Amino acid sequence: MQIEEYLNKNKKVFFEELNKFISFKTISTDSCYSEEMKKCQEYLVGLLQGVGAETSILETKGISAVFGEICSHKEAPTILFYGHYDVQPAHKEEGWEKDPFEVNSKNGKWHARGIADDKGPVFAFIKAVETLQNTSGLKLNTKFLIEGEEEGKSNLGDCIKENASRLKCDCVLVCDTEWLNEETIAIPCGLRGIVYAYIRVNGPNVDLHSGTFGGMVKNPHLELARILVNLKNEKEKILIPGFYDSVKKISAKEKKLLELVPLNIQHLEKEVGTKLTSQDKVELLIKRSVLPTFEIHGITGGYLGPGGKTIIPAYAEAKVSMRLVPDQNPEKIRDLFVSYIKELNPEAIVVVDGLAEPFLVDINNPYIEKAAKILEQTFGKKTVFLREGASIPAVVDLNKELKVPVVLFGINNHDCDIHSPRENLNELNFYKGIEALAKYLEELGK
Ligand code: BES
Ligand code: MN
Ligand code: MN
Repeated sequence: MQIEEYLNKNKKVFFEELNKFISFKTISTDSCYSEEMKKCQEYLVGLLQGVGAETSILETKGISAVFGEICSHKEAPTILFYGHYDVQPAHKEEGWEKDPFEVNSKNGKWHARGIADDKGPVFAFIKAVETLQNTSGLKLNTKFLIEGEEEGKSNLGDCIKENASRLKCDCVLVCDTEWLNEETIAIPCGLRGIVYAYIRVNGPNVDLHSGTFGGMVKNPHLELARILVNLKNEKEKILIPGFYDSVKKISAKEKKLLELVPLNIQHLEKEVGTKLTSQDKVELLIKRSVLPTFEIHGITGGYLGPGGKTIIPAYAEAKVSMRLVPDQNPEKIRDLFVSYIKELNPEAIVVVDGLAEPFLVDINNPYIEKAAKILEQTFGKKTVFLREGASIPAVVDLNKELKVPVVLFGINNHDCDIHSPRENLNELNFYKGIEALAKYLEELGK
């Protein structure tokens, strides 16, 4: 049987299984969902055993990862697939049309939390293995490492170190990235690092009447705002002393390559519904991946309910992060960040709870060349190599420990809107994605 034929025959079953995988509310950062994490883990183990993998659970300091292996071709290369089964938080009232944990089919797109990040692609890879087993045969050794904590405090680093010999492979394959635009597939050749933090400014020990106390006590929101505006200015320069010291300058060669990248600024502005920070393509591309950033994710505290409530709030808090680029070191940036905030406001409380290193992929190897060729052939679109602005902490750990090429074989459409209530995966990207992955495994087994 041909790959396309097997896929066509199994469309319905695949969709039902994917729906089941999506239905587990695997929000790893919220302990309310620990039962869901366990149940999903069991389901995943079942999926892996379904393709004949020998499975085990790898314990970490936090939520455990699922490991599997099909190693029946001792002389053939070994590929290690990495993905994650945890998802970002999602609640219907945040703007979802339907239950976020049920696949909602609409105009050729499937909407659900985790459909693109990363359950859909993880599932696609498992089904690619199944497809190949039922067609031309799986002729290489396949390992699976699917973690449950990518979206939060990834504890996988130590686990990768402890299990390095079991994870041994010739290439790491990751399906957790997205394309550049409608016409262009992207194979990221870099990922940014990250420092994620929580800032809190305490005020009075209880909300106070702003008339009777206003003028006598400081307002924690103003104090927090003062910190935040001092982190980045209106020209978008990050003001932490020493922050840019080790940022690598973009080479003339890489800049030239960016000139060839297709990007329609007007189209993108329409899609996201806001103005971009530049009308110059190369400048935008540099800003989104070659330069570091500082962002605020949320500010809370005080009163925002109906009507007036004239108080001086008891506290104000914010969550922020900085994306890092080569050669910024996350520990060093964390220290610079914390001491700068202490300087701005000695009473502020700062908790840093996530660090990841930036990463550059060496694209000159046959694993990446073949990936690009097969993606182009299967989807009939061009591939570009481009640094990605986002982060995948485990990729850096895997590369450091295993010292093999990493292939970021993304199958998500560019408008997959991960982390948002519009998260979606094109039906076509899913089925063609399985096809491309199956053909890739077939090619590597030759
Ligand atoms: N899959 C994303 C990373 C990604 C997004 C790669 C878009 C390429 C294109 C991953 O799940 C993610 O969201 N990572 C977090 C890491 C953080 C929580 C440490 C990120 O980048 O914010
Ligand atoms: Mn992801
Ligand atoms: Mn994510």
